[in-house]
Amino acid sequence: MMKDNQGITILKIGGSVITDKSADDGAAKRNEIKRIAEEIEGFNSKLIIVHGAGSFGHPQAKRYGLNGKFDPLGSIITHRSVKGLNDIIVDELNEAGVNAIGLHPMNCTVSDDGRISEMSLNIIGSMIDSGFIPVLHGDVVMDKKLGTSVLSGDQIVPYLATEFNAERVGIGSAENGVLDSDGKTIPNINSNNFQDIKKFISGSANTDVTGGMLGKVLELLNLSEVSNATSYIFNACDAGNIKGFLNGDNIGTAISKAELKDKVLL
Ligand code: IPE
Repeated sequence: MMKDNQGITILKIGGSVITDKSADDGAAKRNEIKRIAEEIEGFNSKLIIVHGAGSFGHPQAKRYGLNGKFDPLGSIITHRSVKGLNDIIVDELNEAGVNAIGLHPMNCTVSDDGRISEMSLNIIGSMIDSGFIPVLHGDVVMDKKLGTSVLSGDQIVPYLATEFNAERVGIGSAENGVLDSDGKTIPNINSNNFQDIKKFISGSANTDVTGGMLGKVLELLNLSEVSNATSYIFNACDAGNIKGFLNGDNIGTAISKAELKDKVLL
């Protein structure tokens, strides 16, 4: 549905950029959130923001074993925690002059065995059409099979990019993109070189119940196969990078469809 929305940009801000991910309970990096809000201010095109949970979600989800079992209290505690982070981010965005509205996946999404099966796309589409910037986040959501499941922003991003035919997707992380064994940024990943690159990509150093860097790359590789979107994984801790991405810079690691000529060569 709603494939006619051209030119939409989707930006994910990773939990490790906006929280202290090593903390065992929500610790927000207020100054970073403020800086990021100011970098987003002034962007004139259609935008959806998705942020991660960091220490507002991963430690709680782990503590209550939400990846393995249905735990109503753990689901509520985790949801409330990440909702609190969303409030902080939306407040800073509004403060900076961005017309942001928080949207909690728990209230607008149903998953089936951990994968999104439906989302209130009409609400999101109407917001975008009216000039608002919806701000979604990794969350605990209702799940047809599991009761609830943990939904990563890394899954929300390609889902919305496909539904809204997004042109550019940015994943603002705490690293300079996907790195090779010398710590250098790999400029481009596609389905042809992924198998060679896979060995460099690890999970996350801190508590991460949703897959770390490998999870991100797999989601974005799949997106590049089913859409025309190009995704960029870049360092959002470096001031100016989010603004640069929004202005059209190609930064970090680009994940895109393999060129036909590359495929023929193989
Ligand atoms: C995780 O969301 C959601 C919960 C643990 C509740 P993300 O996967 O998007 O969060 P980050 O970016 O890794 O922190």
